[in-house]
Amino acid sequence: MKHTEIVEVLRLTNYGQTVTVCGWVRSRRGNKNVSFIALNDGSTINNIQIVADAERFTDDDLRLVTTGACLSATGRLVESMGKGQSVEIQAEKITVFGAADPQTYPLQKKGHSLEYLREIAHLRPRTNTFGAILRIRHNMAIAIHTYFHEHGYFYFHTPLITASDCEGAGQMFQVTTKNLYNLKKDKDGQIDYSDDFFGKMTALTVSGQLEGELGAMALGKIYTFGPTFRAENSNTPRHLAEFWMIEPEVAFIQKDELMDLEEDFLKFCVSWALEHCKDDLRFLNDMFDKTLIERLKSVVDTEFVRLPYTEGINILHEAIRNGHKFEFPCNWGDDLASEHERYLVEEHFGKPVIMTDYPKEIKAFYMKLNDDQKTVQGTDVLFPAIGEIIGGSVREEDYDKLMAEIDRRQIPMKDMWWYLDTRRFGSAPHAGFGLGFERLMLFVTGMQNIRDVIPFPRTPKNAEF
Ligand code: 4AD
Ligand code: MG
Repeated sequence: MKHTEIVEVLRLTNYGQTVTVCGWVRSRRGNKNVSFIALNDGSTINNIQIVADAERFTDDDLRLVTTGACLSATGRLVESMGKGQSVEIQAEKITVFGAADPQTYPLQKKGHSLEYLREIAHLRPRTNTFGAILRIRHNMAIAIHTYFHEHGYFYFHTPLITASDCEGAGQMFQVTTKNLYNLKKDKDGQIDYSDDFFGKMTALTVSGQLEGELGAMALGKIYTFGPTFRAENSNTPRHLAEFWMIEPEVAFIQKDELMDLEEDFLKFCVSWALEHCKDDLRFLNDMFDKTLIERLKSVVDTEFVRLPYTEGINILHEAIRNGHKFEFPCNWGDDLASEHERYLVEEHFGKPVIMTDYPKEIKAFYMKLNDDQKTVQGTDVLFPAIGEIIGGSVREEDYDKLMAEIDRRQIPMKDMWWYLDTRRFGSAPHAGFGLGFERLMLFVTGMQNIRDVIPFPRTPKNAEF
């Protein structure tokens, strides 16, 4: 069907020409002389108004033109007298492609709660809110590819099915073709994977980092951008079982350059949203969070704090001495809870914090050990309203030190030999990080729940749609 997208039509100024638009009816109002149809095709948050005069269209012609129906309208483009729009279409022909019964169509004109919309995730992209979020999501993906491409990184595809647990947290979803009720066991009663599809235990990846490091050891600078899976049974507004992660890995850089990269990259992404998603951000700002755009601008304009973990703990202890109450303990060696992260970011500093040099016991095996033998060169970025948005580190490039840590943690060597080869043959200093795409989306859209920034969220007990 030859038609013009609504985003284009709204920019036209040569009134009088005939245009055809297609889309879904957001609302229809009017009187016995005229109907006004607000039509949206997803190309923009803005609707085009279709004016249908009773002289041309009978009630019967417009019987199926109800909220949710899909139609095409052809007519003359005219300057609009109405508020909030520059042009409208004086309809000459309307063709309904698909009706939507007003008795049963779940999205009526009145606003619905985000909780309700999660139950109809198959239809929620048709709302203003989710249209805006999903267009922003697309733009953020383009921002990420643009940033890395323009900085000389190569997009490197790491496997989704793997036999190694990168983060060592035991949160993997197994992949098998076996009949789970009739598993082959060895004489000790252990599952015998030798007759499974891959001949070994496999699972969905929790991170592309280990293979990403192999890429960086050959191409210099790579990034991954793909789905990752974690079977962490945490029903929080910040965790998904399936989320998208961006993982750059860079040879020949050290901790300061890694932090520079984290900061520069995040600022680029947020600036991109401010520049390319103006209408959608304005809508979310006005509807949900009046400080959203201001908060995005402040991140772009501010220098991130760089804070060693040990100093962070001191600040938290100082806060406790001054009467601040935390629910969870924060002694040296503890993993910080989000209340601690948010205290540092939102109350103490009032800006993003890159926290560095964590106790090695609370971080993964691959992080570079500091000379104190107690801390490792992690560089997590903590954001206002979000907490941890990036997890990063300098990698341990020394074979013996890395091997010692693998032994100490009893990580099976049969899973790791290929990773260790990077340290045996032409090892290099290198570093990288992982950005949770949906955490970035939470920040950029101002949404409160991670289930609302991905089209079809996967969380414990929920794999609908
Ligand atoms: O801190 P994490 O676990 O780090 C890694 O996986 C490293 N291998 C990354 C690297 O250095 N290449 O995860 C990285 C980021 C977190 O900071 C968070 O933003 C996001 O991934 N993330 C999640 N997002 C949504 N749901 C979950 N369950 C997430 N777990 C981590
Ligand atoms: Mg982390």
